[in-house]
Amino acid sequence: METKIYGDYAQYLPLILQELTDHIIEANEVCKIETGFKLYEHLNSRIKSEHSMMEKCQRKGLPQTSQSALRDIRDSIGIRIVCGFVDDIYKTVDVIKAIPNVSIFNEKDYITNTKANGYRSYHLILEVATAYPDVLGHDQGSYFVEVQLRTIAQDSWASLEHQMKYKHNIKNQEMITRELKRCADELASCDLTMQTIRNLIEEGKD
Ligand code: GTP
Ligand code: MG
Repeated sequence: METKIYGDYAQYLPLILQELTDHIIEANEVCKIETGFKLYEHLNSRIKSEHSMMEKCQRKGLPQTSQSALRDIRDSIGIRIVCGFVDDIYKTVDVIKAIPNVSIFNEKDYITNTKANGYRSYHLILEVATAYPDVLGHDQGSYFVEVQLRTIAQDSWASLEHQMKYKHNIKNQEMITRELKRCADELASCDLTMQTIRNLIEEGKD
C-alpha cells in the first residue's frame, strides 16, 4: 500500500491555505481601492506533494511520518507573494501578521541580510490556530505555513538560480557563482531605483 505521509490531516491543508489566501487577497483589493497601488503583483500557493514531502524527510534524516511532515518540516503549505516594490513586502508582512489566529513561528529577512549567494526574499513561518484536529492530538490544532515574499526582480533571480543549482558537474562553477551574485546585486540596485521613483511620484502628488 502506498504510504500517505499527511494521513488524515491531508484534507485540512487546502482548507487552511484557502482561508489564509482569502485574507491576503482581500487585503490586496482594499489596498488597491484605498491607495491606487496593489500590495502585491501576484500570489502563488501550493500544498507540497506527498512524494516531495517523503523525499524531504529522507533528505533531512527524519522518519517518514505525519509528525515529521507537519511539525518538523514546516512548508507543507506554502505561499509565495511577489511584490512590485521592496516597501510593499514589509507592508504585506504587516498585513499577514494582523490576520486573526496567525502567529509568527519564525521570520527571516534575507532582504536586509542577503544570503552569500545573492538570494533575497522575506520568509515567514506562520503557526495558524485552526478548527481542525492536528497531529499532536489537539481538536483545534495548529498548522505551519511557509510564506515567501519577494520583488519581481528577486523572484526571477531565485527561479533561475534554482533551475541552475541542480546542474552540477559543470565547468567554471566559481565564475558562475560569482556572476549570479553580481546579477542579484544589480537587480537589487534596480529595485532600489524603482522604489525611489515610486516615492518621487507619491511626493509629487497634490
Ligand atoms: P528548508 O527548505 O526547509 O530546508 O528550509 P531552510 O531551513 O533552509 O529555510 P530557508 O528559509 O532558508 O529556505 C526556505 C526556502 O526558501 C527553500 O526551500 C527555498 O524554496 C527558498 N530558498 C532559500 N534559499 C534559497 C536560495 O539560495 N536560492 C533559491 N532559489 N531559493 C532559496
Ligand atoms: Mg521549501
